[in-house]
Amino acid sequence: MTSQRTEELLEIDRRYLVHGFGVVGDEDIGPIIERAEGIKCWDTEGNAYFDAASQQTSNTLGHGQKDIIDAICEQAKKLQFAHLLSKQSNVPVIEYAADLARVAPAGMSHFFFTNGGSEAVETAFKLSRLYWSKQGKGKFKFISLQNGFHGAGLGSVPATRAGSGTFWTGFTPLAPGFVQAPHFYCHHCPFHLKYPACDVLCARYVADIIKTEGEDSVAAYIAEPVMGAAGNIAPPPEYFPIIRQICDQYDVFLIGDEVQTGFGRTGRMWGQEHAGVSWDLMPLAKAITGCYFPFGATLISDRIYEGLKGTMLWHGFTQHGNPIGAAAAKAALKLIIRDKLVQNAEAVGNYVMERLNREFRPLPNVSDISGQGLMLGIEVVKNKDTGAPFDTATLGKWQRALLKKGLYVRLSLAKHYSRIRFNPPIITTREEADEMLDILFTAVADLK
Ligand SMILES: Cc1ncc(COP(=O)(O)O)c(C=O)c1O
Repeated sequence: MTSQRTEELLEIDRRYLVHGFGVVGDEDIGPIIERAEGIKCWDTEGNAYFDAASQQTSNTLGHGQKDIIDAICEQAKKLQFAHLLSKQSNVPVIEYAADLARVAPAGMSHFFFTNGGSEAVETAFKLSRLYWSKQGKGKFKFISLQNGFHGAGLGSVPATRAGSGTFWTGFTPLAPGFVQAPHFYCHHCPFHLKYPACDVLCARYVADIIKTEGEDSVAAYIAEPVMGAAGNIAPPPEYFPIIRQICDQYDVFLIGDEVQTGFGRTGRMWGQEHAGVSWDLMPLAKAITGCYFPFGATLISDRIYEGLKGTMLWHGFTQHGNPIGAAAAKAALKLIIRDKLVQNAEAVGNYVMERLNREFRPLPNVSDISGQGLMLGIEVVKNKDTGAPFDTATLGKWQRALLKKGLYVRLSLAKHYSRIRFNPPIITTREEADEMLDILFTAVADLK
């Protein structure tokens, strides 16, 4: 029996709220989250959930981090808002920029702050086009990966190919100039080849795409270092070094969308470190404040910054560089470093991977396990021999039943396979990982 209070809240929700990525007017709402601590959330019925999804891979630092909360409160009392447009600046954003510069990848010491990931991606796109137009070049196209996710704005959604165009439904015509490249999930190789005999054709093929589109028309290539929405898929080690070389050869910017991977999620501060490459532009959000406050950033390479020097930037957002967001980001970064959370993501991630390989991989319905750090995925199939995927209705029901058992996980957004994503906050301990994996193991074993 649902309590009267929950019923009343549900009633108001149904009457007034429109949920993102949900069905308009959906009556089947819930759970309603009321409080949280560490890696657990509680709903209005008092049910507890382990958050193995970090709330959309965003609550990376867990709940109840006192230092971030105090920083937000103190900043709100002192100066809750001063814009960053044109010539004005504010103290917290300057202080945060100095801290970020100390950990930012070499050669990326210029920052444009945003309110979230989509704005950071749009900023990367617009800066790319602005740079090329300033050079007198008509390079305007963007290449993005099949199954990739880059945001929901009308400039970032054409680059979002998760669910094979699901995110475009009803929003066409899309902005022109967006081109698809093959994904790098070896288990479902787009060329039906086997790694390493494939010679990483998925990466090399990007050169063909650039030549076909015309190298004078391609502004940038964008990808996530580990594909999140696609199911936490890491590329073969050669993938990004090859892409970097192709981008250099054809003078195409390489945008590393680190909205999910940035700030330690993959067991490195930046996803790019796994490949040993540098990006030209790097959108960040989510973990930048652990979602204690809406905030994001686009990191800009010295080359692009120098090329744009003296150019009027007709781009900005009223709240970009919000002082409270900057104070939250400063406290979040301090916490990541103080508590060695990047190292924790690597150590606990390795431990989880070891358990997944030992216990989950032999299950008859598990066909692939992969990922990096605490960004891991388990592909589930009806039948290992045929590789037949489960239908979304079955998996949706399974996911809801798992929630009732106290574990929140998210599923991949791809049409031809299904992966269970395991990406709890990077504060997760081995013991907490064990508790979550114990629940997950029984549920996966029972998935028919
Ligand atoms: C890789 C990636 N880029 C961009 C975005 C968009 O970020 P936001 O939802 O903060 O606009 C997301 C969101 O999940 C993402 O995963």
